[in-house]
Amino acid sequence: MSQHILTAVAWPYANGPRHIGHVSGFGVPSDVFSRYQRMAGNKVLMVSGTDEHGTPIQVQADKEGVTARELADRYNQVIAEDLTGLGLSYDLFTRTTTRNHYSVAQEIFLGLYKNGYIFPKTTLGAVSPSTGRTLPDRYIEGTCPICGYDGARGDQCDNCGNQLDPIDLINPRSRINGETPVFVETEHFMLDLPAFSEALGTYLQSKQGEWRPNVLKFSLNLLGDLQPRAISRDLDWGVPIPLDGWRDRSDKRLYVWFDAVIGYLSASIEWARRSGDPDAWRQWWQNPDARGYYFMGKDNIVFHSEIWPAMLLGYNGEGARGGTPGPLGKLALPSEVVSSEFLTMEGRKFSSSRQVVIYVRDFLERYSADALRYYIAVAGPENQDTDFTWSEFVNRNNGELVAAWGNLVNRSISMASKNFGAVPEAVNLTDADRALLERSRTAFAAVGGELQRSRFKNAVTEAFDVVRDANKYLAEQEPWKIKDDSERQGSILHVALQVVDDVKTLLTPFLPNSSNKIFEMLGGEGVWSGMPEIREVDEEGGPSYPVITGDYSGAAKWEHSSIKAGTPLAPPKPLFAKLDPKIVDEELARLDS
Ligand code: MF3
Ligand code: ZN
Repeated sequence: MSQHILTAVAWPYANGPRHIGHVSGFGVPSDVFSRYQRMAGNKVLMVSGTDEHGTPIQVQADKEGVTARELADRYNQVIAEDLTGLGLSYDLFTRTTTRNHYSVAQEIFLGLYKNGYIFPKTTLGAVSPSTGRTLPDRYIEGTCPICGYDGARGDQCDNCGNQLDPIDLINPRSRINGETPVFVETEHFMLDLPAFSEALGTYLQSKQGEWRPNVLKFSLNLLGDLQPRAISRDLDWGVPIPLDGWRDRSDKRLYVWFDAVIGYLSASIEWARRSGDPDAWRQWWQNPDARGYYFMGKDNIVFHSEIWPAMLLGYNGEGARGGTPGPLGKLALPSEVVSSEFLTMEGRKFSSSRQVVIYVRDFLERYSADALRYYIAVAGPENQDTDFTWSEFVNRNNGELVAAWGNLVNRSISMASKNFGAVPEAVNLTDADRALLERSRTAFAAVGGELQRSRFKNAVTEAFDVVRDANKYLAEQEPWKIKDDSERQGSILHVALQVVDDVKTLLTPFLPNSSNKIFEMLGGEGVWSGMPEIREVDEEGGPSYPVITGDYSGAAKWEHSSIKAGTPLAPPKPLFAKLDPKIVDEELARLDS
């Protein structure tokens, strides 16, 4: 049965190029998942874009001496290139500065407002005494009044996960220049989160046993202390507040997180319009059988398991104040919030300013996308904070990709092409032959089951167990030693090639580039697993902008398919580059420079 699957991927801030810490959290996992779901016959809609509003953009723009708009334009392009280079198969990767996004964001605000879930309030806002400018919450630091952690931010404490107001921080200071902010009265709109506490509780309780335990535990904890939350900011860069008397004010905008999470919906609507069927998005948002999976790093959980669901409930009229669905109709809440933990770099936190960083584009200049994808899948921060080290990268690349998998592909195809010129016939199969064939056939259910549950590490490890068994089989059968029995030699190679073909399918979600090459080497025609591309688009007369999109309807299916004896084989090309261990020192030197 084919299902509609929404893959909703966290929107990177357009404030700099992406580094491998970013893409190990939201990027590679969401792509592995989407590619698997497509292969399993489901209708995937994978959307995201650059998050271009708010203080993270404004602060970086000030640093670079450009306007927020210029900064967003620059990094929207750079990030689209980073993500395309990694082969992330977005159906639409757009941006939050489109007209479409503005109108959908305002639509959701109005729906919530009409249902009574948004109200105005006079609050105290922080101002920098030296510049007179508003100090955004994120840029105030101090001691958490709840847990005592000293690095809490004005909007959130990363230690205990509670949402905060800057005024509550003990000993508040500006992260920009260390000065103590002054607090002045200012009017804002608040989202009435307490009105959703019951509905959110019911929603989250129904996810027991389904979500990653860390994510669910963290989310349930947040319910204990729901406070109304400001969803506007003193800022001139962002989506205007769509109410009379506010719409034209240049000093008030929607809070960047309020508009960003709406991006999942606006991007789905933009995708539908571009696909020629403007209502097509409803299949993923208003269909009881559809499922929505949201991928992100753990610092984003609160926005996806609490605030976004609350916004959707309010728009649907399903909070404590009731109400009716807005004009778009009732919208679906996330089925699962799939969050990863943090990646560190050689024992340190990623930091662009301190050069503890490796950017995606620099990585891809020196190493292949599949090598990085593999590392993230097998050794990434899926369930706990994890350290990236160059020596582990080299070891896994050389030991697992090159020596185990690449070598299995290479020697099977080269021996068969040299001795037979084609896929040889399989005759008189032995028990050992049958056992190995059975092994890779049954791996589809096992690996698929893990992928369905976003257990990427288990999935890729199980696929590699098959590789190991196949190498063992070849070592035992020694087809290269058989001189006078070409029928037996051919049968062994047939079995090996069949397993190579199966494993290239099992590894397609992780290693789409190399699986595409193996598909061709084994005589496949057409596209196996489609790759993303950047296209320049516009909105009726508006400025053009790049989006990531692609045709992913390739031949790849999540199933065994029998190879055909007689299919011509050419000598193989190498799949993975072996890395010189001395790159470890070179890369470490770059980190410290
Ligand atoms: N820009 C945010 C970050 O990098 C993530 C936003 S996810 C969104 O942390 F979907 F809500 F936009
Ligand atoms: Zn705290």
